[in-house]
Amino acid sequence: MLISSLRHWACPRDGAFPLRPRVETWQRDEAWEGRLECPACGCAYSFRQGLPNFLPRDEPGWLEPDQQLELVERNRALMMPRTGRQLHDERVEEAAVLRCLAGLRRGRILDAGCGVGRMSLRLLRRGHEVVALDFAAGRLLHLRALADGRPQLNCAVAELTHAPLRACHFDAVVCLQVLEHLPTPELRQALLDRLRLALLPGGRLVLTVYNYNRARRRAGAPDARHDSGIFYHCYTETELRQDLHGFRSLRLRGLVCRLPAAYRLLGHAGVLGRRLDRALTLPGWLARGWAHLWLVQAVK
Ligand SMILES: C[S@@+](CC[C@H](N)C(=O)[O-])C[C@H]1O[C@@H](n2cnc3c(N)ncnc32)[C@H](O)[C@@H]1O
Ligand SMILES: [Zn+2]
Repeated sequence: MLISSLRHWACPRDGAFPLRPRVETWQRDEAWEGRLECPACGCAYSFRQGLPNFLPRDEPGWLEPDQQLELVERNRALMMPRTGRQLHDERVEEAAVLRCLAGLRRGRILDAGCGVGRMSLRLLRRGHEVVALDFAAGRLLHLRALADGRPQLNCAVAELTHAPLRACHFDAVVCLQVLEHLPTPELRQALLDRLRLALLPGGRLVLTVYNYNRARRRAGAPDARHDSGIFYHCYTETELRQDLHGFRSLRLRGLVCRLPAAYRLLGHAGVLGRRLDRALTLPGWLARGWAHLWLVQAVK
C-alpha cells in the first residue's frame, strides 16, 4: 500500500479521515504490514501484504448467511473459464460502461465489488485513478497481480455497505453485477445510499444489474440462486427506478440481448454481433422482455 493511497480511506464506522498508519514492515516504497487507526473511534484496521482490510469481522452477524456463502464462493472461484458467449456478453457490458464514462478524463473512479477487476483494468489503461473494493480478498490479490504494480490502483477489502469511503470523493462509481447479490431490500438500498454519498456532486453512477426478463419470470420468483448457491435478485424497471430515487438524470437501458434466435448467433459474430446486440436492446419494450441486464446511468 502506497502511503499516498491513504487519501482514499475513511473509517467505515464514523467516516473519520485521515486514518493514521502504524507500519510494521515496508516492502520497497510500500507499507506492507501494519494497521490503520481511526483518530475518532480508535478502531484499527489491519493491512497484510499491502492490502488494507476493513471487514468488521469482530461484529456479530456482520454478514447475512447468504453473504457468508457468497464470500466463500467468490474467494474459491476466482476466474471461471469463459465461453465465447460469455466473453461476448462481457464485451457488450464493458463497451456500454465506457460509453457512459466518455468525456471523463483521468477521473477518480470507484469500482465497487470489482471482482478480479475486468473493469478496473480497463479504466486504469484509460488513465483513470481506480479505487477497487471487494469483500473477497483473493479476488483483489488477483487483480493487483494483473495490474502489475500500477500506482493508480488502490485496493481494499471491504463490505460495501460498510465501505471505508470519504463523502464526495469520486468523479464516478461503477458497480457491475453486484447490487443483485445483496440478499435484502434494506441492504440493497444501503449500498446505493453509500455509493451516492461517495460521489462528488455531479458525479456519475454506472450500474448493471440482472433484469427480471421473460425467461427469468418463466423460471420463477425474482429471488433465485446460481448453481453455486449464490443468491441474486432480478430487478424490474419500476423497482430499479424506485430504488434509485436519490439520483437525478436517471437513464436506464437494456444490455445483452437474450432473444432466443439472437442469443445463439450474436456471440459468434465478433464486433458485428456486439453492434447488433446493442441495436436489439435499444427499444425499451424489447429490453424489458429480453435484455439480460439493466444498465443505469445516473448523476448525483
Ligand atoms: C458477479 S461479481 C462481479 C464482479 C465485477 N464487478 C465484474 O463485473 O466483473 C460480484 C462481485 O461482488 C462482490 N460482492 C458481492 N457482495 C459484496 C459486498 N456486500 N461487499 C463487497 N463485495 C461484494 C463479490 O465478491 C464479487 O466479486
Ligand atoms: Zn472511527
